[in-house]
Amino acid sequence: MATNFMLIFKCLSQIFLLFSLLICFPNSLVVCHHDETESPAQSPPLIPQLLTFADQRLAVVYPIIQTFKNIITSDPFGITKTWVGSDVCNYTGFYCDKPPDNLTATAVASIDFNGYQLAAPTLDGFIDQLPDLALFHANSNKFSGIISPKLASLRYLYELDLSNNNFLGPFPTPLLTLPGLTFLDIRYNSFTGTVPPMIFMETLDALFLNNNNFIQTLPESLGSTTATFLVLANNKFTGPIPRSIGNTSETLTEVLFLNNLLTGCIPYEVGLLRKAVVFDAGNNLLTGPLPCSLRCLEKIEVLNFAGNLLYGKVPEVVCELGNLVNFSLSDNYFTYVGPQCRKLIEDGVLDVRNNCIHGLPDQRSLEECALFFLKPRSCLHPSWFTIIPCEVHAPQKRTSPKRYSKRKLVSYAALSRHRRLADYVL
Ligand SMILES: *[C@@H]1O[C@H](CO)[C@@H](O)[C@H](O)[C@H]1NC(C)=O
Ligand SMILES: *[C@@H]1O[C@H](CO)[C@@H](O)[C@H](O)[C@H]1NC(C)=O
Ligand SMILES: *[C@@H]1O[C@H](CO)[C@@H](O)[C@H](O)[C@H]1NC(C)=O
Ligand SMILES: *[C@@H]1O[C@H](CO)[C@@H](O)[C@H](O)[C@H]1NC(C)=O
Repeated sequence: MATNFMLIFKCLSQIFLLFSLLICFPNSLVVCHHDETESPAQSPPLIPQLLTFADQRLAVVYPIIQTFKNIITSDPFGITKTWVGSDVCNYTGFYCDKPPDNLTATAVASIDFNGYQLAAPTLDGFIDQLPDLALFHANSNKFSGIISPKLASLRYLYELDLSNNNFLGPFPTPLLTLPGLTFLDIRYNSFTGTVPPMIFMETLDALFLNNNNFIQTLPESLGSTTATFLVLANNKFTGPIPRSIGNTSETLTEVLFLNNLLTGCIPYEVGLLRKAVVFDAGNNLLTGPLPCSLRCLEKIEVLNFAGNLLYGKVPEVVCELGNLVNFSLSDNYFTYVGPQCRKLIEDGVLDVRNNCIHGLPDQRSLEECALFFLKPRSCLHPSWFTIIPCEVHAPQKRTSPKRYSKRKLVSYAALSRHRRLADYVL
């Protein structure tokens, strides 16, 4: 009897409560009901009134993040499990900071999804809706689709790493309008077509385009790049190395043209890159002699022209460079090396295997060499190859044969899919 009464009372009071809630907070009831459903992954973003946010800007991005969470199709490490509640700054992968326009506010300033292997059909409607985003790093995920034009609205974005994902389509041109972009890494995707020449006019510090399907003649604007690191390897870039490359002499430190389809003779302006530590144009279709101007690459450690159609003498002056660790000319058609270069061969620095150098081991057959030289070969301006556009003193003192270290070489790290480059560059 008593229990029945209790039950009735409980029911009545709940109905009353329900009723008064409906009158006072018609919305909150709906939200409460929502809260209790068991599968948050299926529910639309919660209306954030019930959550208390540390800052209005976090309340604004909360539904954006929840919507993105709902389109994630794979999350092997359970990262998105932490994307609950109002403490957005504590979600795994998200970092908050004071936005430049209001130093008392808190906003999502940085996202680091490196290596999380998240899969989503698009980033559209996600990063382009986080107005205070300054860094987005997503190396080794499975994001796909094309890059939304809306990305152009991210006024603070300065580092974008989309490397090793499944992005398709043309080069993401919306990036060209980002005012402060300094780091762009889109290597290891399936981008096709051409790279807009304008990208070399941006004030970038690092540009990694390697391992895509870009097909195009290198534009003259390449010489306008302010990048320290420029990696174009493993694409289908064609045409000659632009002479304008000489204009990058104050900044360019590591450049990889490796594994493309570049043709023509090497412009003497390459020798103007006095800051260059790595210059790698291996496995292309470059021809002509090596310009003596390379003598001016005072800092050069790795100089690679292996696997081209180069010929002539290896200039002795180039072999005088004291910081060379790996100077590879293998698989060309060089015919002569002098004593300075022979010393480098002995030191294991210079590699001239598979050339046409009489008296050295591991050379091409006489027939092969004869066949190559049967065709008349020349460069447009033969006099350029003897220009040495710097003051040359005695041979540089060789710093004792250094062990070849790829550790600090950012450009070669870019050739590994999973490497996160921002760590190196900064
Ligand atoms: C932040 O998240 C971790 C788990 O991801 C949790 O243990 C911790 O309590 C959270 N901190 C705050 C302040 O909410
Ligand atoms: C700056 O942010 C704080 C915290 O969100 C806010 O209270 C304040 O109104 C903002 N100031 C301006 C000028 O928007
Ligand atoms: C460098 O740029 C200037 C103009 O900015 C141009 O006149 C010059 O030809 C360029 N140098 C090279 C080597 O392209
Ligand atoms: C030197 O460079 C060539 C061409 O990139 C490369 O194949 C070779 O492994 C390098 N040598 C060393 C010792 O790393």
